[in-house]
Parts: sequence; structure tokens; C-alpha cells
Amino acid sequence: MNTISPGLDGVVAAETMLSQVDGQAGRLIVRGKDIEEIAADYDFAHMAALLWDGLAPKFTSPAVIRRDLGQARLAAAALLPKLLPATLGLPPIEGLRAGLALLSDADCDHHLLCAAVPVFTGALWRQTQGQASIAPNPKYGQAEDFLAMLTGKVPAPAAARALDTSLVTVADHGLNASTFTARVVASTRAGMVSSVTAALCALKGPLHGGAPGPVLDMLDEIGDVDGVTPWLEKQFAAGNRLMGFGHRIYRTRDPRADVLKGVVAKLRGHRGSGKNRIALAEAVETAILAELAVRYPTRPLDTNVEFYTALALEAIGLPRELFTLAFAMGRVLGWTAHIFEQEQSGRMIRPASRYIGPVPEGGMAAAVAG
Ligand code: CMC
Repeated sequence: MNTISPGLDGVVAAETMLSQVDGQAGRLIVRGKDIEEIAADYDFAHMAALLWDGLAPKFTSPAVIRRDLGQARLAAAALLPKLLPATLGLPPIEGLRAGLALLSDADCDHHLLCAAVPVFTGALWRQTQGQASIAPNPKYGQAEDFLAMLTGKVPAPAAARALDTSLVTVADHGLNASTFTARVVASTRAGMVSSVTAALCALKGPLHGGAPGPVLDMLDEIGDVDGVTPWLEKQFAAGNRLMGFGHRIYRTRDPRADVLKGVVAKLRGHRGSGKNRIALAEAVETAILAELAVRYPTRPLDTNVEFYTALALEAIGLPRELFTLAFAMGRVLGWTAHIFEQEQSGRMIRPASRYIGPVPEGGMAAAVAG
């Protein structure tokens, strides 16, 4: 009988040249570089060049990618008159899902997909606030232009740099749920738009990319350092999972958590990054880690990327309703690179299941996977 691995734990389903997550050591390598080095040096266009190199139809430098993304944001903005009326009243994440579906598998390239995420997100958010959308500025970098399209103001360089760092830090991460989804859809040759749309749907869930908004809800509910213990007791009694903690692969601290914590530290003085917020977050983190260690002594559960992503995005000035969309803005680079890689490997992904339902009278052949 075939072995079952629920959740596909430990199953190696693809070879990739893109990234390697070492869950024991707490290390993330993207195309031969440690994530800390990438976070220190790269902006969005450099990260795109790193991930797409050798996979996209032709190699282009970060400068050319920056220019192409600027033009693609203008093209994405031309779709807003169709998107906005159709998404009135929807939460931004659902609006973005609808927006991606407006693109065509037949003639949408990876630049347009990557550009559509910030353009649609900025306009969708402004629509929820009753504000008109702001046209993209193709001269800006991707992070800077997103902040400009969101706020209508020239972004503070520190905030734009912090967002760039956040985006590149989450751009790729092995065969996570959304990237796997993208590869499954790409493997059927459905096309890049379909693959990325499916990936966004997987990202949206609270166990994956939907966690950072609830991290801030958690901090708000706890209120102050004295509130940590009673709040935790309530959560464990209710069997709730604590957002921003635990990981399928890491058995130690997620290295991206510290990169993002560094982003928050650099933004001290900005909204949401005041001393009290950070002190509360650190107290909550310490208390949760201590409690998880007691409750799961044989299963190391540590802080994951989402905990400090939440604080970083808040300090950058993003509303929490946009945190998952900001995650998508970075991860779309990884999705598109994996889609290229999957399309080159050419093997349709089709695992098997074990049937445990009723059998027709007379029985059936010995259980096989199918
Ligand atoms: N809070 C409370 N209990 C937890 C948590 C948590 N955050 N994470 C795991 N556990 C428990 C889990 O319920 C299980 O208990 P039991 O054996 O009694 O059923 C035990 O710890 C072992 O769980 P696991 O096998 O380590 O968990 P998993 O691999 O199935 O799930 C996870 C990984 C990330 C979905 C989970 O840790 C979780 O739900 N975390 C909270 C949501 C979150 O922060 N998600 C963002 C993940 S990082 C970004 C990304 O890569 O997507």
C-alpha cells in the first residue's frame, strides 16, 4: 500500500534552482544568496532580475526591469475602469483576486502581473475609502510607486526602502502552499495568469499569507503587557492558533522574522513603531514562545515571518487590510519564477489519493492509489 503524507509533509515534489529553506538551521538561501544579504542590498527590480535570470524568456538587467515594470503599471492602471465598479463593496484581497482574473493568459506577461498587484491594491484601497485612484508614476520603483498610489503623497524614502526590503524578503520561500499551487496550475499549461490567480487564493488563508493582519488584532486585543497571560490562557482554552508562530519547515526561528524586526527598528519614530508597540510585541512574543514550549515540548514552535511583517507594514503606514496584498506584491516574483521553471520541466503534477469510501457489491480490486 502506498504511504500517505497528509499535508505532503516531507514530500519532495519538485527540483528548483530558486530557493532553499533549511528548517533546522533557520536559514533561507535564494539563488545562492542568504536572505540577510538580499534584504540589505536588493530592491524589487534587483530581486526580479535575480529570480527570473535564466527562466524568463530573455535576461534583462534590474534597470531594464525597473523601466518595464513602470510601463506595465501604466498598462495595469488602464484596466481600473473595468475593475473598480465590479469590486465595489468587496474587501481589497477579493478585489485583487477579481482584478487578476481580468488579465488574459493569452497576452499577459510577468511584468504586467507583477505591476497589476500594486496598481490594483492602491486603487482598491482608495475605493474603500471613497477616494479616486492615483495614476502610477513609471519613474518610481515598484515599492515607492505603490506608496504613492496608496496615499497620493511623495513617499518618505525610509518608508519606500522599508517596503522594498519587506517585499524582497518574502519574494520566494521554497515550495510553500501558494507557490506549490502556482506550480500545479502551471503544470497543466493553464497559463501564467491562471497560475498566479490560484496562488493568490492559496496565499489568502490565515494559515499562510493571511496571518499578519490578525497579528495586529492580537496585539490590540491584548492591549498592554499585563494583558498577555490572561489573553493567552483564553486562546489556548479555545484551541486557537496564535498567528505569527509555528511553521511547517522551520524548527527554529524563521530568519525572515529578524530581517523584518530590523526593518521595524529602522522605522522607529514612524506611525505604529513607537516604543510601546514594540515593547508589547516583544513581551507577547516572549510569553507565547514560553507557553508553546511548555505545551509542545517535542515540537519546536518559534516566531515566523508574519509576526514582524505585521509590525513592519504597520510602521510603513499600510492599513492591516492590505497586509496580505503586500505579501502578494513580493511573492508574485517567486510565483512567476516558479511558473517559468515548472513550464520548463514539463511534468504535470498529479499526486494520488487513497480511496476510503464505500465499495460496490462484490468488492473491488485491492486498494490502490488513484
Ligand atoms: N499556535 C498554537 N498552536 C500551534 C501553532 C500556533 N501558531 N502552530 C502549531 N501549533 C500546534 C498545532 O496545532 C499542532 O498541535 P496538535 O498536535 O495538538 O494538533 C502542533 O502545534 C504541531 O503543529 P505543526 O505540525 O507544527 O503545524 P503545521 O505544520 O501543520 O502548521 C502552520 C504550520 C504555520 C500552519 C501553523 O504553525 C499555524 O497555524 N501557525 C499560525 C498561522 C501563521 O502564523 N501562519 C503563517 C506561517 S509563515 C508564512 C508562510 O510560510 O505561509
